[in-house]
Amino acid sequence: MRILLLNGVNLNMLGKRNPEFYGYFTLEELERQVTVYAEKKGVLIYCRHSNCEGELADILQQTDCDAVIFNAGAYSHYSYALRDCIECLGVPVAEVHLSDIEKRESFRHTDVLTDVCVARFMGKGLQSYFDAVDYLLSIDGSKHEG
Ligand code: DQA
Repeated sequence: MRILLLNGVNLNMLGKRNPEFYGYFTLEELERQVTVYAEKKGVLIYCRHSNCEGELADILQQTDCDAVIFNAGAYSHYSYALRDCIECLGVPVAEVHLSDIEKRESFRHTDVLTDVCVARFMGKGLQSYFDAVDYLLSIDGSKHEG
């Protein structure tokens, strides 16, 4: 199975940004840890990042992976463009957040991506990403060998 790991706006600032919510690890470290975790389960991870909404849509539309793990960052709260993109993608998208967005500021409680994603994992730091790998593996219809 092949999974696109897509991190969106401001996730490249991990390690420098609000560690009380996001931890002290960098985006590179996050990508490495998810890749190692997934490899043990025979899953290949393809890592991408962008701060730009349109580029995130391009990356999603162009993926040839079987599934996607997506942390859209703040775009999750208002991007109908990314919502529409996910809706017609044709591969399952698991939404992740490092922090628990329902326990933070009220503007983060709105999440326009949830209803078009197959699942949402949040509030557990890196474990949110690991849980997304496990979930996508459990619903995998591709049966590709990693
Ligand atoms: C986030 C939560 C969002 O509200 C925030 O804008 C982010 C990161 C998370 O991973 O907890 O950039 O998606």
